[in-house]
Amino acid sequence: SSSVCCRSEVPATGTTQPAASLGFRPPAPHFTKMYLCMCLYVVFTSGLTVFFIYLRTFIYSFFMRGRPFPLQILLFGMLFCIYNGFLQGYYMIYCAQYPKDWFTDFRFTSGVLLFLFGMGINIHSDILLRQLRKPGDHTYKIPQGGLFTYVSGANFFGEIVEWFGYAIATWSIPAFAFALFTLCFIGPRAYHHHRYYLRMFTDYPKSRKALIPFIF
Ligand SMILES: NC(=O)c1ccc[n+]([C@@H]2O[C@H](COP(=O)([O-])OP(=O)(O)OC[C@H]3O[C@@H](n4cnc5c(N)ncnc54)[C@H](OP(=O)(O)O)[C@@H]3O)[C@@H](O)[C@H]2O)c1
Repeated sequence: SSSVCCRSEVPATGTTQPAASLGFRPPAPHFTKMYLCMCLYVVFTSGLTVFFIYLRTFIYSFFMRGRPFPLQILLFGMLFCIYNGFLQGYYMIYCAQYPKDWFTDFRFTSGVLLFLFGMGINIHSDILLRQLRKPGDHTYKIPQGGLFTYVSGANFFGEIVEWFGYAIATWSIPAFAFALFTLCFIGPRAYHHHRYYLRMFTDYPKSRKALIPFIF
């Protein structure tokens, strides 16, 4: 459709003859505007995810007070991130097509807001977890405050909301697949953490749910 930014809509210029002799004209202004808007959109959404992954890699990992974990898990994590990053990036650059008014589309605006909301919860919850321990302490305590008031897996909930926000904002199958994978992978972690807390702490708040406030 003419309202869709399609990167295959490059004006035909012929095959062998010089473009000038065929009366070649630069791309129509509306095309360049559409293309620019598309590039801006891709840069914006990709920038949000790169920013979050930068925080997770270079800030989060240096500030948490967790126990050491197996190298194998680190390597699998890296492999997954490389593959997933390639998949999301390739799709955004070569496959995605958006209407030229996508910046004001409800899916884009609500998705970005959801992404930022989830990222805020995730970062805040990780800070609360970090504050539970003094340096060198590896014991588990009852998380308090923020969304932990309602769920045991507040950091996981934030992460899931964030990637569903990204999926809605980009309206892309790879992004929805990643959001679903995140739900399937860290949703059960929240549930197991919750069961652990209930078993370990007799004074654990009974009204607190595992992953979704007031529901589950
Ligand atoms: N998108 C994805 O597919 C994906 C996958 C995995 C993780 N993540 C994200 O990565 C982050 C970390 O994941 P994770 O599985 O390591 O989270 P986690 O099990 O909640 O642990 C996070 C950190 O907090 C510490 N901690 C957890 N509960 C604690 C408690 N009750 N008392 C004291 N310290 C506690 C942990 O220490 P210990 O190391 O000693 O347990 C660890 O350092 C989360 O934000 C998660 O959402 C995303």
